[in-house]
Amino acid sequence: MLAASCVSQSPEYPLSGLSVGERPEPAVPDGWVAVRIRAAALNHHDLFSLQGVGLPADRLPMILGCDGAGTTDDGREVVVHAVIGDPAAGGGDETLDPRRTLLSELHDGTLAETVVVPARNVVPKPAAFSWAEAACVSTAWLTAYRMLGARSGLPRDGGGKVLVQGAGGGVSTAAVMLAKAAGHTVFVTSRDEAKRALALKLGADAAFASGERLPARMDAVIETVGAATWSHSLRSLRPGGVVVCSGATSGPNPPADLARLFFLQLSVVGSTMGTRDELAGLLAFMADRGLRPLIDDVRPLADVRTSLARLATGEIFGKLVLSV
Ligand SMILES: NC(=O)c1ccc[n+]([C@@H]2O[C@H](COP(=O)([O-])OP(=O)(O)OC[C@H]3O[C@@H](n4cnc5c(N)ncnc54)[C@H](OP(=O)(O)O)[C@@H]3O)[C@@H](O)[C@H]2O)c1
Repeated sequence: MLAASCVSQSPEYPLSGLSVGERPEPAVPDGWVAVRIRAAALNHHDLFSLQGVGLPADRLPMILGCDGAGTTDDGREVVVHAVIGDPAAGGGDETLDPRRTLLSELHDGTLAETVVVPARNVVPKPAAFSWAEAACVSTAWLTAYRMLGARSGLPRDGGGKVLVQGAGGGVSTAAVMLAKAAGHTVFVTSRDEAKRALALKLGADAAFASGERLPARMDAVIETVGAATWSHSLRSLRPGGVVVCSGATSGPNPPADLARLFFLQLSVVGSTMGTRDELAGLLAFMADRGLRPLIDDVRPLADVRTSLARLATGEIFGKLVLSV
């Protein structure tokens, strides 16, 4: 089958370790299912894997990809849930299982004609979603959903003030749309004026240059950019506010600014992916509100190198999809 694999790793030249070609059809262990992928989507995670972050070299070659949607052997149309973990081992939450992995970290991922996952790792695809739309939700959208929901402390019935850093990313665009749909006031930042304009079109109430002082203090910040925006995130919170962090694209070690943290009684909360139940809840919420993932580009899987190169530049707005 055709697949996009990580065969070697380079922090400087991540695409040098990408191989797009034939791989053997996977075996299906007991209790697992094969999904014939119809569309898959890229995440920054795929670039990190090619850079040697989060994917040990002794596991190569590894088929990349966390996001995908397709059909099972018994004809079900499904979205793949990329968190491979045991809810019981995580106190009822598989994302907290100490042995949890994401697809493409220990088990081959979705950038392939077929992926094999535990039977619980598929959820029904909403009929109204295209394959491309369905392929976008299980990483960036799920992450944004958990950040805003279980992790942020924002009121369930809306009315909160939330800042989303780095308007163009997959998690960020999802966070803007989900937060607006939930009834919050949403501010965004971006380095790029065109992305700020697009974020306003997505529904953001106001858009600011990265680092710009905001006219109001936020209840919560959705942070995935990391070092480049971290101090601004802390400065933007009201006393008692929460920064929810699920990524660090620009670097993981900014100054902690501990004086601000304790004096204003801020909370720093980590978040990663979401549970199978949260994925089902997200799909139901999106179907109910008529929300669809923002797609920047769709091209064939054979062209994945072009899409990964674009992701590496950061010059994207929404998700990059591969049709399979
Ligand atoms: N923990 C999890 O479960 C989870 C799940 C999904 C993603 N993530 C992580 O979240 C991060 C975002 O991933 P993604 O796939 O949504 O997209 P991405 O490609 O990492 O994000 C692109 C955005 O990051 C911003 N950015 C990048 N470098 C920047 C810099 N030096 N200064 C300011 N902004 C910068 C850019 O915003 P502007 O150009 O608009 O300024 C750009 O639009 C990644 O680190 C990823 O690994 C984590």
